[in-house]
Amino acid sequence: MCGIIGILGQDPAAPRLVEALKRLEYRGYDSAGVAVLESGALARRRAAGKIRNLEAELSASPLAGISGIGHTRWATHGAPTTANAHPHATDKVAIVHNGIIENFRKLREALVKAGRKFESETDSEVIAHLVSAGLEQGQTPEQAVTGAVKQLEGAFAIACLFAGHEDVLIGARKGSPLVVGLADDEAFLGSDAIAVSPFTTRVIYLEEGDVAVLGRGKTKIIDAGDAVVERPVTVFSGGAAAVEKGNHRHFMQKEIYEQPETTGRTIARYVNAFDERVEMPDLDGVDLTADSAVLIGCGTAHYAGRVAEYWLEQVGGVAVETDIASEFRYRKPAFGKSAFSVFVSQSGETADTLAALRYCKENGLKTLAVVNVPESTMWREADARLPTLAGPEIGVASTKAFTAQLSALAALSIAVGRAKNAISEQEERRLVRALMEAPRLIADALGAEPQIEKIAQEISTARDVLYLGRGVHYPIALEGALKLKEISYIHAEGYAAGELKHGPIALIDEETPVVVVAPHDGLFEKSLSNMQEVHARGGKLVLITDEAGAAAAGDIAKHVIITPTCDPFIAPLVYSVPIQLLAYLTAVHKGTDVDQPRNLAKSVTVE
Ligand code: M6R
Repeated sequence: MCGIIGILGQDPAAPRLVEALKRLEYRGYDSAGVAVLESGALARRRAAGKIRNLEAELSASPLAGISGIGHTRWATHGAPTTANAHPHATDKVAIVHNGIIENFRKLREALVKAGRKFESETDSEVIAHLVSAGLEQGQTPEQAVTGAVKQLEGAFAIACLFAGHEDVLIGARKGSPLVVGLADDEAFLGSDAIAVSPFTTRVIYLEEGDVAVLGRGKTKIIDAGDAVVERPVTVFSGGAAAVEKGNHRHFMQKEIYEQPETTGRTIARYVNAFDERVEMPDLDGVDLTADSAVLIGCGTAHYAGRVAEYWLEQVGGVAVETDIASEFRYRKPAFGKSAFSVFVSQSGETADTLAALRYCKENGLKTLAVVNVPESTMWREADARLPTLAGPEIGVASTKAFTAQLSALAALSIAVGRAKNAISEQEERRLVRALMEAPRLIADALGAEPQIEKIAQEISTARDVLYLGRGVHYPIALEGALKLKEISYIHAEGYAAGELKHGPIALIDEETPVVVVAPHDGLFEKSLSNMQEVHARGGKLVLITDEAGAAAAGDIAKHVIITPTCDPFIAPLVYSVPIQLLAYLTAVHKGTDVDQPRNLAKSVTVE
């Protein structure tokens, strides 16, 4: 999604804006731009495509000035052209915007009728004109922005820079996150704390409806009810170092390799290793003995929920419904007598998941957010939270956030099982011991990279790839297919292996690799039958299994990826590694943009 940076600084703004925009690249974008104040007048540079195109513009025609705003745009209204790139400006104000202005047509018509000229096809440009109209009527920047914001419907975070006002920068948020960065004689605005992290670690996370009026070294925040309020200052610990690639070729690779540490950190948060018990924090009224649970998320986070569905039913003894947030929020779901709801999200800002959370709250359900970004909107709005401690995830394709989500959800399942007496204390200890082994086994699973590399070369020429799994590995097959299509652009589908005969088998031919995720567990023999069916039709099998599975499968598979033998409870965590590596290495072979795949945004803050 779009990224925002605003700087009221002491040093030349343009290079700093570009530096911050580079930190925001991970969110996904297709054009970028900056505006600065040069001797009180607004000056802009914008470019379609990557930030390097903007840098080329800036080196051809540099910008002086110490205050400015910058933006990476992920196109919604209007193509990713230079004219549609932000900042949008009049001679009085330049604005950058993240989100969607739902009533922009009505506003634009009225503004055009009043004689205003638009230069872009975006919804965002109406903001520049509304603010400008206020300024022309003699309003102060603060009055003009608060007045304009009141006319906007939809979700937005904005930053505004004003001609002739060297010491003012104004931001506002409703529905999309915005942070204020504080420094002694400077001030910053960012769509997240990572944006301002090169300049400061002291941040204020603005609340819904807040308008922040920044001066050098001073900040005034006005809430949705027009009251001047104080907001807590937080020290952002993600740090600039967390967003460096280190020795890795891509962020995605780095993040795959961080998983022993990130799952370890997350598990340690919920497990008392000495007593071999799960320790859940105070869940603020979320009743784990409820008769049912609802698990909601999008994309990879939804698949983490699908894995947890098996765990919560088998270990937790609770009836579970999982759904994709965009479907859930509009189907007006009914709930059982007692239910709690769980929202899984890396960013904590995904628009559909957030709307689903709000729906559950309105319907009296307690809400629990399994979320990675501290102080994100879901983090703050949920009744209780289970943080995943994956650290900043920069690669658009989610990897370490997924396994951290699985780690927290596995712990939750054990906690529910104990609360409902579905498992004994002894069983809890056994499961906790198994969970604590996951980080080491994930590290072992990373050792398969050289073997997977050869297979990836072959997969990279495929047109379609099928992924099959049974039980808890069905969602892992879905996640494997999603990872592959996201970053390699190869068409891939995940199926429950038992569904093969009900349709997908028609796709099998000598050209179609079929990846089967099947540890040697209670369902292995069933998966083996499905593999026979694929083999009989000439399909190329890639089997991801353990030593026992490889022995039992004989030579039916063309390729076998050996994964460490593990307790079936934690197998989804361990088997996430080979499917991630297979997607990653395939994309590297194809030469695609692994960390910022085309058309994708890291955090989808619009519907
Ligand atoms: O931030 P969230 O976890 O709520 O994001 C959900 C999905 O948009 C996300 O998982 C998406 O599917 C990723 N691109 C997966 O790699």
